[in-house]
Amino acid sequence: MQQKFEFEYDLLENANELSTADQELLEAAKKATNTAYAPYSKFNVGAAARLSSNTIIIGSNQESASFPVGICAERALLNSVASQFPHETIHTMAISYEPVGKPSVEPISPCGMCRQSLLDYENRFQSPIKIIMAGMSGKVMVLKSATHLLPFGFDGAILK
Ligand code: THU
Repeated sequence: MQQKFEFEYDLLENANELSTADQELLEAAKKATNTAYAPYSKFNVGAAARLSSNTIIIGSNQESASFPVGICAERALLNSVASQFPHETIHTMAISYEPVGKPSVEPISPCGMCRQSLLDYENRFQSPIKIIMAGMSGKVMVLKSATHLLPFGFDGAILK
């Protein structure tokens, strides 16, 4: 039997269409690009999470001279939140980027590894994470849950 996977997301003309709280979070993600360490790719990524307590925590990509050792902004942020705020859930995560000498006008979409980590986090805390993706300017994509980023993702529940 043929099946179909589909989901709805919001595509906004610009960040002004976000709620005030989400605008603040996206601003924090943009600002977090300044803390990226990306001397190799020169692709600075920033992410910001709003926790259940309303606290905002940021993360950025941290590269390594041994390239695969580097970590993306999203996973740096998830690891930081899980370590420092183990009893809080992430309500929303905003992701942005600022490549050196190149425009940042399209939404950025997390890599496959980060999608798995986001899914792991949602499953672990049984709480969907709203995802806001944007460049420094331009259109903004808003997803209701990280599960939409990874259809048929591997769920650790099967290991139990
Ligand atoms: N990167 C992120 O931090 N997040 C993404 O969503 C995509 C890629 C980083 C990894 C690497 O440091 C640089 O961007 C270029 O791939």
